[in-house]
Amino acid sequence: MKAIILCAGKGTRLRPLTHTSAKHLIPVMNKPVLLYSIEKIKQAGITDIGLIVSPDNKESFQNVFGDGIDFGVRLEYIVQKDPKGLAHAVLCAKEYIGDDDFLMYLGDNLIKEDLDTFIKSFKDSKADATILLAPVENPSRFGVAKMKGNNIIAVVEKPKNPPSNLAIIGVYIFSKAIFEGIANIKPSWRNELEITDAIDYLINNNFIVNGHIIYSWWKDTGMPDDIIEANRRLLEDLADSNILGNIAENSLTQGKIVIGKGTNILDSVIRGPVIIGENCTITYAYIGPFTSIGDNVDIKNAEVENSIIMENSKIINLSRKVDSSLIGKNVFIKEIEGKPKSLKIVLGDHSQLTLKD
Ligand code: G1P
Repeated sequence: MKAIILCAGKGTRLRPLTHTSAKHLIPVMNKPVLLYSIEKIKQAGITDIGLIVSPDNKESFQNVFGDGIDFGVRLEYIVQKDPKGLAHAVLCAKEYIGDDDFLMYLGDNLIKEDLDTFIKSFKDSKADATILLAPVENPSRFGVAKMKGNNIIAVVEKPKNPPSNLAIIGVYIFSKAIFEGIANIKPSWRNELEITDAIDYLINNNFIVNGHIIYSWWKDTGMPDDIIEANRRLLEDLADSNILGNIAENSLTQGKIVIGKGTNILDSVIRGPVIIGENCTITYAYIGPFTSIGDNVDIKNAEVENSIIMENSKIINLSRKVDSSLIGKNVFIKEIEGKPKSLKIVLGDHSQLTLKD
């Protein structure tokens, strides 16, 4: 069985970070979101993976993942020229998939559950589709499934009156029957070929569609707060400390901490769970729980907590704590003495700055 991971989305809700990189490459616990999906799929025994990318972001994925060999998988890049919907993305991969069953994974999803039982439940059934579902409090934001036993008897995309609380979270297994479904649907109100409509076709034409419900944590990492929450959840599960850098004696460390080589911690408090990359300098600083710091970051005389700071950034002399923040690459934040007290700001399009007193 092959897998396809859909990564062509523009990630508009994660601007400005997505002006320069794909949303699936944003680091969570210092690893791109997409790598977690690749690892999950590999762990389930699938090593042929097609990445459905856009013409704009193809290169950024190739730069990180190459042909996949370093990650133990074989990656094929399939370009979806226009963003015409999830079912359209599947159609772009038709030749790659061939006649086999396949796993489809929305690339910005993080799930804790292993995929083995899900795949087994598809294989043990005579279903043409098995769809991963999870109970949610806000089903109207998702595709929603109505179940009878293991069967899904109806699916609705973003319903005003949801028929259940079971959301389609973005991991599916299909037989080639889905291509018949896709051939028989029309673009939706948002002018996209919806995979939910193709699934609806299967249900209405006597194909078997099953649901597989998970109760463990998962997250669609579409918004900055989702990324920060995902970072927090993954750091919560940090198994062990691993300190390759140098912690000077006048620093204090507590909890589980990962520190990369070449990193120097001086006169600072690091309270885990925290991950700090390579070649960073942390001086007179407090790095609080649930924080991930990329490579080559310089933090001096500042406090950071529950945040992601990406590579090559500098945070110097801040009198306020940086909290619940997502800071991109090569960002420079500093506070200086002097009058008039003011903010001097250079922020890219769609940046957000919140000051709390
Ligand atoms: C898509 C699917 C929807 C699913 C969701 C999961 O929606 O159409 O059924 O619940 O992904 O994230 P979109 O995020 O494209 O609006």
